[in-house]
Amino acid sequence: MALLVLYATKTGAATQCANKLAEAVPSCTVINLETEKPDLASFDRIIVGAGVRDGKIYKLTRDFIKKNQAELLNKKMGYFICNEKPKETQEIFERNIPDALKAAAVCMESFGGYKAYKAPSKDEDQLKGIFVDRIAEFADKFKS
Ligand SMILES: Cc1cc2nc3c(=O)[nH]c(=O)nc-3n(C[C@H](O)[C@H](O)[C@H](O)COP(=O)(O)O)c2cc1C
Repeated sequence: MALLVLYATKTGAATQCANKLAEAVPSCTVINLETEKPDLASFDRIIVGAGVRDGKIYKLTRDFIKKNQAELLNKKMGYFICNEKPKETQEIFERNIPDALKAAAVCMESFGGYKAYKAPSKDEDQLKGIFVDRIAEFADKFKS
């Protein structure tokens, strides 16, 4: 079954997470929504990930989900967010993912993220604030 990891980022945390997921799941395609348009028909399993600002997942992902909701309901789906405040995670999923997609999702998880305006510079650890163990657990759950 072909797997797509699709994501949107502003400061890079979601890129790191998408790449870590790809390491954990064999032969998966990773697409940054800002630079590429996926051919959904080619995939039967899709993980959608995004960073969060002011309680909202990035618009590119929101719009993608809205536009493709019917098609996504026919696929095995997982969702991850990159955010800094764990207390908000549940509400972010609640507000940003339509009910039908939430009900059908195999997994939904926050992988953590960078503190606002404190994304690591090039020579710093790009995984600062990211829960790598959650990414591995997510991948295992999604694969099973
Ligand atoms: C302007 C701004 C607003 C943010 N709003 C939230 C928020 O509402 N909730 C939260 O948990 N994190 C918030 N964050 C933290 C980001 O979600 C975090 O930095 C994440 O790593 C962003 O993902 P990205 O690096 O893939 O763009 C905010 C960050 C910025 C800069």
